[in-house]
Amino acid sequence: MGKIRAAITGVGAYVPEDVLTNEDLSRMMDTSDEWIMTRIGIKTRHILKGEGKGTSDIAVEAVKQLFEKTNTKPEEVELVICCTVTPDMFFPSTACVICDKLNIRNAFAFDVNAACSGFLYGLSTAAKFIESGRYKKIVLIGAEKMTSIIDYTDRATSPIFGDGAGAVLIEPTTEQVGVLDEELKSDGAGRVHLHMKAGGSARPSTHETIDAREHYVYQEGQPVFKWAVSKMADTAVDVMKRNNLDPNITWFAPHQANLRIIDAVGHRMGIDSSRVMVNIEKYGNTTAATIPLLLWEWESKLKKGDDIIIATFGAGFTWGAIWLKWAY
Ligand code: UT7
Repeated sequence: MGKIRAAITGVGAYVPEDVLTNEDLSRMMDTSDEWIMTRIGIKTRHILKGEGKGTSDIAVEAVKQLFEKTNTKPEEVELVICCTVTPDMFFPSTACVICDKLNIRNAFAFDVNAACSGFLYGLSTAAKFIESGRYKKIVLIGAEKMTSIIDYTDRATSPIFGDGAGAVLIEPTTEQVGVLDEELKSDGAGRVHLHMKAGGSARPSTHETIDAREHYVYQEGQPVFKWAVSKMADTAVDVMKRNNLDPNITWFAPHQANLRIIDAVGHRMGIDSSRVMVNIEKYGNTTAATIPLLLWEWESKLKKGDDIIIATFGAGFTWGAIWLKWAY
C-alpha cells in the first residue's frame, strides 16, 4: 500500500452579515478610504454583532456548510481542531464548544493558537494524525471574532481586522495529493511587536489594565511588516524550489494581512499574479480564518492535482509554508 497522505476533501466558510466599511471607520476616527486602500488594501470587513455571540458561533456556520457539502455526519468526525486567538473563553477550548453546538460526540477536540499562522500549524498537525493511519476524518477550523479584541480608538489597528471562519475536512488518501511538504518556524523574540498586553496569567485583568486599554491587539506595524515579507518569502521559496514547482502555474494562498505584503512575497516567489489568491479587500485580516476563506472562494477554480503554496506570518512570531496538491 502507498504512503498515507492527508487530503483536504471539502471546504466550508462563513462571514457574519454585518459589514464595517472604510467610510464607517472614517466617521469614527481620523482615517480615510484612500489611506486604508493604498496602505493596506481593505474596503470592508465583516463583524459579528449580538450579545453573547463568540467565535464558536461563526465557526459553527462554517462547519454546518462543510457537513452539507461533503455529506458528513457529526458522529463520523474523529477529531476537531479549532485554530483561533479569540476563543469564546480561556477554557474550555472553543473546539469543545463547537462540538457541543454541532452534536459532535465521538471526537476529541482542541484549539491551536499560532495567531495568523494558526490554520497552517493546524493543517500540519491534522496531517500527522491522518498520516499515522489512526484517524480518517478530521475537521480543521480557522475562526476568529477579531473585532472583540480591537481598539476602535486606535486607527493603526482597527482598519485591519475582521471576523470570519473557514473549515476543511481532512481525510486519508494514497494518491499523490494533499499535504506534501512544509517548512514551519517560530521566534518568540518577535512577541514584543505583536501581542495583547493583559488578561493572561502574567498580567491578569484589573481595573488598571482595562483603563489602560491593554486587552486589545497591540501591534508595531513596521517591524511586523518587514518580518512578514522576508520570512513568508524565505519559507515559500524554499518549499517551491526543493519540490521544483513551476511559479507560472502554482497557486499561491498567502495570509491576508496587507496587500503590499502579498504583492512583495508573490514577487519574490516569481508567482504569476493571476495565480495569487487575494480577498483581503472584502474581509480584511481574519487571522486564522484567512487561508480557509481563500480556499473556499477559489474552490471552483481549483482542479485535482493543482499545486498550492500556502504561506503565513503571525504573532509569536510564527510563520511558514505548506505545499498542498488539491485533491478534488
Ligand atoms: O496578521 C499579522 C501580521 N500583521 C501584519 O502583517 C501587519 C503588518 N504591518 C502593516 O500592515 C502596516 O505596517 C500597517 C498597515 C499596520 C501600517 O502601515 P504603515 O504603512 O506601516 O504605516 P505607519 O505605521 O508607518 O504609519 C504611517 C503614517 C503615520 O503618520 P505619520 O507619523 O507619518 O504622521 C500614522 O500615524 O500613517 C498614519 N496612520 C494612519 N493614517 C490614516 C496610521 N494608521 C492610519 C490610518 N489612517 N488608519
